[in-house]
Amino acid sequence: MSAESIYYPSQEVLDYATVKEYENTYKFSIENPEEFWAEQAKQLEWYEPYEKVLDSSDAPFYRWFVGGKTNIIHNAIDRHLKTSTRNKIAFVWEGENGDVKVYSYHALNREVSIFANILKSMGVKRGDVVTIYMPQIPEQIFAMLATAKIGAIHSVVYAGFSHEALGERIKAAKSKVVITADGGFRKGKIVNLKSVVNTALEDNPYTQVVITVKRTGHEVEMISGRDYWFHDLKSLPIASIKCPTEVMSATDPLFLLYTSGSTGKPKGLVHTHGGYSVYTSTTARMVLDIKPEDRFWTAADPGWITGHSYIVYGTLLIGATTFLYEGAPNHPYPNRWWQMIEKFGITILYTSPTAIRGLMRFGESWVKRHDISSLRLLGTVGEPINPEAWKWYYEVVGNKKCPIIDTWWQTETGGHMITPLPIFPLKPGSATKPFFGIKVGVVDDEGNEVHPNEQGNLVIKSPWPGMACCVHEDRQRWIDTYWKRFEKFGWYHPGDAAKIDEDGYVWIIGRSDDVIKVSGYRLGTAEIESALVSHPGVAEAAAIALPHDLKGNAIHTYVILKKDFTITPDLENELKDHVANAMGPIARPESITFVDILPKTRSGKIMRRVLKARALNLDVGDISTLEE
Ligand code: WT7
Repeated sequence: MSAESIYYPSQEVLDYATVKEYENTYKFSIENPEEFWAEQAKQLEWYEPYEKVLDSSDAPFYRWFVGGKTNIIHNAIDRHLKTSTRNKIAFVWEGENGDVKVYSYHALNREVSIFANILKSMGVKRGDVVTIYMPQIPEQIFAMLATAKIGAIHSVVYAGFSHEALGERIKAAKSKVVITADGGFRKGKIVNLKSVVNTALEDNPYTQVVITVKRTGHEVEMISGRDYWFHDLKSLPIASIKCPTEVMSATDPLFLLYTSGSTGKPKGLVHTHGGYSVYTSTTARMVLDIKPEDRFWTAADPGWITGHSYIVYGTLLIGATTFLYEGAPNHPYPNRWWQMIEKFGITILYTSPTAIRGLMRFGESWVKRHDISSLRLLGTVGEPINPEAWKWYYEVVGNKKCPIIDTWWQTETGGHMITPLPIFPLKPGSATKPFFGIKVGVVDDEGNEVHPNEQGNLVIKSPWPGMACCVHEDRQRWIDTYWKRFEKFGWYHPGDAAKIDEDGYVWIIGRSDDVIKVSGYRLGTAEIESALVSHPGVAEAAAIALPHDLKGNAIHTYVILKKDFTITPDLENELKDHVANAMGPIARPESITFVDILPKTRSGKIMRRVLKARALNLDVGDISTLEE
């Protein structure tokens, strides 16, 4: 390998890791994908075996484990009840205010079954979409699992999203039932969720029932005939602790998750019971190396794919213990995370570069106050990790003994795609190599493989069981967004730029399309621009990403005002608030620059590349298509 700094795993890590060998297994998995995945599928129980591992007849609508009957809940909960795992801790939760709740697998099943019976009594049927807009409390997870148990489809909307974003998603999914809470705690303050739901539901023909969990106890508006308190429903006879798990086809939808793209409104990616079960359990076991005895913490919101796949499903499928924390990492002090790791004996921590940079800023003395030697593995996800943050994570948090598992994947992929295994030599900032069964390439715009260390388009050249099956009710969008670009090769196009070095290590550079990653959150420039243009004073707008020390990227915008409007600091703030109200606080622009003209191609497309180059004082490159 080249001379740059390489971090080798210790003998202890090598001895303990579930997967001991990569090259041969990888080769086998690429040459015999169906055999490889059939082997992994055997780790799960099936009500009825599948007839075919992969059906590609309707590609790119791939169908996995066709003919198989299952329900992810059978493997995540039910089968554990037949063994001593029943008495094991499934789930530990700590509230920001210090409340702690602990559930065994038996207790988890009870809570999920009660919730499932309540949903049924509210008319939720197989195939219905239930929207969940909740703080990070146990009921958020119970709601997801309960929905899946009865064969309905969950659509979790991140609680940081605005009422407009929530309303749009509820309507798109035609949710009859919405589950929320009165509020949640964040930095000691109440986040008022129920009022957001109330506003989101104005002018909504679909939603008939809102179930509200009491968390904060503050006054909220309840609309009679529509709104029910969860604790009231729980005390009714219908809320029995016995509820059968619905038998599903492997290809039936399990959940929708909305995510931003380069054009148009967010799309609902659909994941299925069978393929997703196999993929999340396999990656949880092999990549994050989760063993039944682990206490695993994904420090992310369950409302994102990271939370779905590894707080909830992957970890429970293994029969390990998963941990959830409600609030801010620095509340009341910046030692909060380390305190909880010590208190609960967390063995694996999985989080984002943004969170690491944020904690790094407070200095290592906050970490050193606590004995966090229970940690044996650290993971990161969401954006490229800068080597400085990598080294801090490795040295200060991991005490130089924990491998850093830098996992590249997406909402669309369901689970890890390019990632080290614990046994890999590591290079800080590289997501290393493709996971088993994943064939990657870095290609130019014509699809030719680029040279080592040259930047190109990342592509995935073969299907995998964790892949979304489609975009909710929009067949064409699945094709157009991911498969059109390299149609003649049949490759999946994730929208990232990458390079591969001389050792075959993949380095993700970042998004190559009009998607911006702010603190790991995914936002579309089109959405930000249309939010700006929806303000009465804005004629035209452009949004770009510029590097930011803490957030990775920050949103910078350019605005052309309408004639009667003048530039004032007030207006600037008003526009920033306007975007935050439309999308959520995460989308609030860092800056607004008022301009008279925007660089456009002759066909009228904004050349964001030119704006970016100017802002960074770089060469603007080829501008032959520029209008003027
Ligand atoms: C985009 C997907 C997968 C869960 C969280 C994000 C970026 C993700 C990495 C990584 C560099 C990464 C990519 C990708 N990304 N992980 N380890 N290194 N970039 O899911 O919101 O669907 O975003 O996140 O740009 O395309 P998502």
